[in-house]
Amino acid sequence: MSSPHWLVTGGLGFIGSAFVRLTLRDRPDVRVTVLDALTYAGNPANLAAVADDPRYRFVKGNICDRTAVDAAIGEGVDAIVNFAAETHVARSILEPEAFLHTDILGTHVLLEAVRRHAVGRYLQVSTDEVYGHVHSGSSRESDPLAPRSPYAASKAGGDLQVLAYWTTYGAPVLVTRGSNTYGPYQHPEKLIPLFVTHLLEGRTVPVYGDGLQVRDWLHVDDHARGIRHVLEHGVPGEVYNIGGGNSRTNREITQALLDQTGRSWETHVRHVTDRPGHDRRYSLDSAKVRALGWEPQVDFRAGLIDTVAWYRANEAWWRAIKGGEFDAYYARQYAGR
Ligand code: TYD
Repeated sequence: MSSPHWLVTGGLGFIGSAFVRLTLRDRPDVRVTVLDALTYAGNPANLAAVADDPRYRFVKGNICDRTAVDAAIGEGVDAIVNFAAETHVARSILEPEAFLHTDILGTHVLLEAVRRHAVGRYLQVSTDEVYGHVHSGSSRESDPLAPRSPYAASKAGGDLQVLAYWTTYGAPVLVTRGSNTYGPYQHPEKLIPLFVTHLLEGRTVPVYGDGLQVRDWLHVDDHARGIRHVLEHGVPGEVYNIGGGNSRTNREITQALLDQTGRSWETHVRHVTDRPGHDRRYSLDSAKVRALGWEPQVDFRAGLIDTVAWYRANEAWWRAIKGGEFDAYYARQYAGR
């Protein structure tokens, strides 16, 4: 019998690349093909460590492009795990259209490929943001979707397409909804890497509004293990929340990062106008995936310390990103706030 072959779309991004590194390390029998469009978020440096592994193959292409998807599937795959997405809320407010293309149309192209090639399993990587913000309690998989940003609405559209393919065609699909993820190799447009790298550079960090918004933080390795667990053990047609269980306000995160970089609130924090429609609080109930046998392993305090140490030790990685396109984006996003 030939070894299992998994297609990982968006495998050069933050969570996708962690999933690929983990899979090649822990599953000696599995072969991985990565399909990645190499947008600003897909970075070959994220998988440099496995580039020469004979079980790893890379195909450049967009999930909206049926020909590229067919080329990546080649003679067949046993599973597709879809990490390919436009993911940044703040960018979705400036330019929503790209989100509809990748997150909805791209998902549709992959679902059609699942049917055409009789792929054994399809996992859609989604987000807690599809539930909208919750003032109290925690979101369960059966809760109604109430997305509030163009990003969240596009992800919700993708999720609904995936679940409709289960109902309509019996396609063997699964959906995971993860909470805010942190760790090495995260693009510095997101809160934690932006703040860590800015503070290491001695720049001030922009806290939106009162900074009392709450996010539930999940280490990227725990997230990747959760996705793999659902891929291997989940029930087709089902949705699984994957939450870190580490609810913190943005102020608490900012203070921890100031402490770890030896900076102070007075000298290195700038309060900026809040994001329009900014979700106040996310919280996931992860009882269902825990009942399936997954639980997070990384302690939040230790994980954050290790993450800061990683950005400190890998300055060349983030310096290559901060500059060029990122500078222009940053100026556009934060100017005049
Ligand atoms: P982010 O990492 O962009 O994820 P999301 O918006 O998907 O939750 O942001 C996490 C939180 O940090 C969110 O409440 C917005 C806030 N934030 C800031 O206050 N300043 C910033 O510069 C950024 C990027 C985020």
